[in-house]
Amino acid sequence: MNDIPVSAPGKAFLIGEYAVLEGAPALVAALDVRAVAHRAGNSKRPVSAVVRCAHQRVKGYLEARGEHDIDPPPVVETGGFTMGARKLGLGSSAAVAASVIGYHLTAAGLDPFDPSVREDALSLALAAHAEAQGGGGSGADVAAAVLGGLLHFQDRKTRSVAMPQWAHIGFVDAGAPAVTSRFVAQVKAAAAEQPGAYADAIGTLSAAVDQFLTAFRDSPNPAKSLAGVRAATQTHNEGLRALAAMSGAPIMTPAIETIIAEAQADGLAAKPSGAGGGDLVVVIADSRADLDRFGERLHREHGMALLGDLKIADRGIRAEERVPTNSRLAGFFKLDIEARRQAVAEATGLDVARLSDLDVGALDMHRANHMIENVVGTLELPLAIATNFRINGRDFLVPMCVEEASVVAAASNAAKMIRAGGGFSAHSDPPWMIAQVQLTPAGDDARPDANAAAAAVAEIKDALLGMADAAHPRLVERGGGARDVEVRVVDPAMVVVHILVDCRDAMGANLLNTVAETVAPRLEAVTGWTSGLRILSNLSDRRCSHISARIPPEALAGKGFSGPEVVERIVSASRFAELDPYRATTHNKGIMNGVDAVVLATGNDWRAMEASAHAFAATRESPDGKGCRYGPLAVWRKGEDGWLEGKMSLPTAVGVVGGATRVHPVARLALEILGCTSGHELGQVIAAAGLASNLAACRALATEGIQRGHMSLHARSIALGAGASGAEVEQLAAALVADGEIKAERACALLTELRAAGGGTNPTN
Ligand code: MEV
Repeated sequence: MNDIPVSAPGKAFLIGEYAVLEGAPALVAALDVRAVAHRAGNSKRPVSAVVRCAHQRVKGYLEARGEHDIDPPPVVETGGFTMGARKLGLGSSAAVAASVIGYHLTAAGLDPFDPSVREDALSLALAAHAEAQGGGGSGADVAAAVLGGLLHFQDRKTRSVAMPQWAHIGFVDAGAPAVTSRFVAQVKAAAAEQPGAYADAIGTLSAAVDQFLTAFRDSPNPAKSLAGVRAATQTHNEGLRALAAMSGAPIMTPAIETIIAEAQADGLAAKPSGAGGGDLVVVIADSRADLDRFGERLHREHGMALLGDLKIADRGIRAEERVPTNSRLAGFFKLDIEARRQAVAEATGLDVARLSDLDVGALDMHRANHMIENVVGTLELPLAIATNFRINGRDFLVPMCVEEASVVAAASNAAKMIRAGGGFSAHSDPPWMIAQVQLTPAGDDARPDANAAAAAVAEIKDALLGMADAAHPRLVERGGGARDVEVRVVDPAMVVVHILVDCRDAMGANLLNTVAETVAPRLEAVTGWTSGLRILSNLSDRRCSHISARIPPEALAGKGFSGPEVVERIVSASRFAELDPYRATTHNKGIMNGVDAVVLATGNDWRAMEASAHAFAATRESPDGKGCRYGPLAVWRKGEDGWLEGKMSLPTAVGVVGGATRVHPVARLALEILGCTSGHELGQVIAAAGLASNLAACRALATEGIQRGHMSLHARSIALGAGASGAEVEQLAAALVADGEIKAERACALLTELRAAGGGTNPTN
């Protein structure tokens, strides 16, 4: 039996769509969205045609080599190809075929990375994929899935090419997915009727490919290369418009045209990746900062998400250390602690022994003594696991550290409702944070000119960015660094300079403070003003996680209310928070129940998170349109189909490297349970926990009220406080709820009665 999960990447065309079918070359990149094949166990999931074909092909191959002990078809997870409930056109079926073949080859002791094995894997995957799909594709997606990297693909022959150092690539989700096969069929039918027009369009597309391949390579002059790539993508877009016009296929949708126009306005190259008709647009820049700035503007002005953190030219078939998490652990709450640990270990692929880091006293005195000053002990809080979370098609078991009863149960329950609608959709801003330097006029300056000081700072923008980068060479190596300078005249006698820094996977406080202190003397020199404070801003509004969810009404029904009634009531609850800051504060407190619990569990700075969230909430547009005022972070609406729709943008200045995330053993383990390897992923989980907590609170408040559910959980802590232990806790809690008086004195009296009646068995739980 094979216990090694094996994955294969998705792909995206950089250039060559349509023309590749007529013999022109294409450039295809493997992306780090991966299909993961792992042992089926007793999974009842149906086996798809691609999995079946791939399994049969590789079985035949291995049998021919004398292997007869071949595993049944694996289960394949393709969650990473999904945004919310929508699968993106990133070549998931090719990745599935490749992962199944890689899985069985690995099980047979073959290394799919070995060149000779790889050749065979590619032939098997091509044949299996063509069989399952009925032929017709170019095979470029299968080649990318097996081989990985960046591939030049022509007439079914592939060669690896180097990714140019200067190119920064992102993808924008243009909405409605294209049905590639239908488009290709429509274009082919039109080609038969209008061969001349078709040949012209393909000629334009092929010319674009040649232009692109010439410009898209390493060069000492990135700006010139980008100009060449821009020209090539413009030609390509012309070719696609011609194909659309002759075939009637809506290849260039309004959303695609908007993205292209906006990218062009920012000096970037953009074109559809794949067949068009929606789905993905590839955007190419010669600086990470330009790409990120474009993404931020596109989201602000058009509500479209740039996926800027996909690793391009990722590895082909490879073994994985752990299986994809399954967060749907039915009955988890009924288990005892040991059994829960076992279930978490099984669902995440972690060794159960690893979970002993959650034992009482995990943070030893020695470590604690080095974390802060004057240490005399540690504070223990319960750490629990919220279940049912699915974000962009991937499952997460979410560690939450909180003292308040009902938070974890409520979040898990709401995540289950959201899962019924396909799970959370999420995307992230680039991890930009702000370092601030305060400037005030020198003491002897009788008539300070703030605008002149601001202009002097703007003049040396590039030098400031260079100084900031030089202060953090390792951050620059990891793809981060200084991105922009903003100068604000906040008073005739005060100028504030912002250095925007991409902190990658660190929270960033220390590195921002260093940047502020590094550039301050230079700012003093060019302005003649004096620097005051030099510190980060905790209003991390450039580093938001954007989370949304759609829930079918039937998943919300209950507590004596129909699904549609609950939808109306939650929308009204949201409206209340939008109109009234007194309610908005409590609404947001409920969001922070989920947010802080994950921030704390993962060793991040919850004070920073609180400060940032509430400051951000105070920048909501006022309902009367006159300026800003404190408002709800999450809002809920009824969609046209009657589903409940919720969304929230939340500043998430959190990291997975540095600080307590490294030092505290529980924080480290919490990150392992989550499986988050990047700050933006963790930010999305935190935002999801916040939105789920808000949904749970709004649903309860808008129906039966909060007290019933709250009190039954609260009763447990009252029971504990009264001295109940073991099975007594649940018995006494139930008695308190039945009694209706959930108070300490009553609990003591009931416990005495319970023990007198011999009910308190008192085994340890
Ligand atoms: C309690 O911790 C949180 C709630 O008050 C949130 C809300 O009112 O939305 C239930």
